[in-house]
Parts: sequence; structure tokens; C-alpha cells
Amino acid sequence: EIIPYPHPTLRHVSKPIRRVDQELINIIRSMFDAMYEARGIGLAANQVDLPLRFFIVNLEAERGKGDELVFINPVVSHPKGSEESEEGCLSLPGLYGDVVRPKSIRVNAYSLEGKEVTIDATGMLARVIQHELDHLNGVLFIDKLSEAKQASFRDALDEFEVDFNSRRSTGSVPSDEELTARRTDWENRYCR
Ligand code: CO
Repeated sequence: EIIPYPHPTLRHVSKPIRRVDQELINIIRSMFDAMYEARGIGLAANQVDLPLRFFIVNLEAERGKGDELVFINPVVSHPKGSEESEEGCLSLPGLYGDVVRPKSIRVNAYSLEGKEVTIDATGMLARVIQHELDHLNGVLFIDKLSEAKQASFRDALDEFEVDFNSRRSTGSVPSDEELTARRTDWENRYCR
């Protein structure tokens, strides 16, 4: 399930993964399903409440089309140029805003098979990689908008907070302590 703003795991800085097992492979498969259902092109692990350093991408947003990319422990370098373009986020449904980012980047990561991959990305791929890497560092695209745009989002963000708090009061979202304990469990299993 994709967690919405302001779920605290969206602000968690994810730790590098040390091992991949069948359970993680199964989780990644269901993440692709969740992403396609939401018509998204990228999804970071902490958007499904996992504190692990990976994200998935498929620019076609559809099963059976395009490439299903998994970036484990990604490192971005060689930023070039600058471009402003509209972004949205599956954790902030309905909100869109222009974000300035480098036009092209290089990303080094591991694939699900444990192979080291280097991709020189530009355009939409470069943008989605940078957006998802931000997630792994606890950063959301709304943090990068102009002040005027941020101000225009204030009511919408308040609404997200009201929704979140009401789901918490009914017990469908665990307490901060419970969420922290769960994240620590995942980190103990995959990050050490
Ligand atoms: Co996002």
C-alpha cells in the first residue's frame, strides 16, 4: 500500500541494503503492481513504508510495456544542465508543481541480480531517478517548489494532514513508536 503525506516514513533516510532474498523480490513485484495501479512511473521503497535504499521505475507505467528498472543503493553523479518540469508524486495525489533539476545525470546502482549498473540518463528518466532518490533521503518534491507554489499548496497539505490524523485516530495508521520499531526490524533484516 502506498503511504500518503505526511506519513513519517516519507521523511526517513533509507539505509543501504546488504542482501536481497526471495521475500524482497516478491515485495518488489508487488510494488510494481501498486505503481501500475496508481499510474505512476516511479516508486521508492519508503513510499510503501520500507526503510530500504531502493526504488523502481517504469516510464511506461504499464505492465508488459517498457523496462522494469530496479535501482538498489543508487548513487547519482555528473549532474549537467538545468531544466524546469512538472512533477507529481504518488504520496501526494492530485498535487503537481514545477521543479528545477539537472537535465542529465549518471546513476550507479545494483540490479536485483546483484549486478552493478551505470546509466547516463537524460529527460524524463533523469528526472524520475532524481525524484525517487530524493525520497530515499526523506525529501519530497514539494520541498523544492517556489515559495509562492508552496503557499498555494498549504490548504491541500492541511487536508492531507487531517486525513492522516483521522486515519490514525481510528487505528488504521500505527503510532510513531510502532512505525519506528517496524523500520528498525526491516533494517536489521536487510541493512546489516
Ligand atoms: Co514521489
